Amino acid sequence: MKISASFLGIKNNFEENIIKLDNTTIDYLHVDIMDGKFVNNKTCKFKEIMKVLDETKKPKDVHLMVKNIKKYIRKFKKLKPEIITFHYETCKNCFEITRMLKKYGIKCGISIKPDTKVEKIKTYLPYIDLVLVMSVEPGMGGQEFINSSIEKIKLLDSLRKENNYQYLIEVDGGINDTNIDILKNNNVDIVVVGSYITNMDNYQDGIDKIL
Ligand code: DX5
Ligand code: ZN
Repeated sequence: MKISASFLGIKNNFEENIIKLDNTTIDYLHVDIMDGKFVNNKTCKFKEIMKVLDETKKPKDVHLMVKNIKKYIRKFKKLKPEIITFHYETCKNCFEITRMLKKYGIKCGISIKPDTKVEKIKTYLPYIDLVLVMSVEPGMGGQEFINSSIEKIKLLDSLRKENNYQYLIEVDGGINDTNIDILKNNNVDIVVVGSYITNMDNYQDGIDKIL
């Protein structure tokens, strides 16, 4: 299982701490982008975030929590991310977005909020690279893991087995040492971990505890 580390919870010494995170054994840097519309919070300015991320080496896993998906894909493709994930709840024509990401050579992920059923994205499953199951309400770090997410993960795992679909399963929100095993046991490919790591003085210690 791979770890994608979210830096949303880093409040002080932003630049320095992102570099610290980049120097651990994490597999991806999870870049949470919020527009203040799809979710209440807003990410810091594009230029600032680009400046810091330009100095990092890890592959980027961009999570767009935004209404205008196409606008943000055009901006964040400059980061050369490996994956861009957008929300099903806010796309009018999801196939248009999957085509756009394919054209740019970026892996395409679709995310569902805790109240959105897997059935809603069934038509897209044969064509996408990743499904991001939100295990908290999107918008901020440090929330508690919602247990009903496990049923969705089980369903997504059985659907891909039955149909030979190729998507990865990624889970985001409230992940720590108490719930990591159930995710490992249900074939989750990537976990997004934020505050559990960034609340520690030594980030690598946190990462080692959940690996
Ligand atoms: C929530 C974000 C998550 C979150 C993860 O809206 O998408 O990536 O920051 O942070 P923790 O692990 O603190 O829940
Ligand atoms: Zn996220």
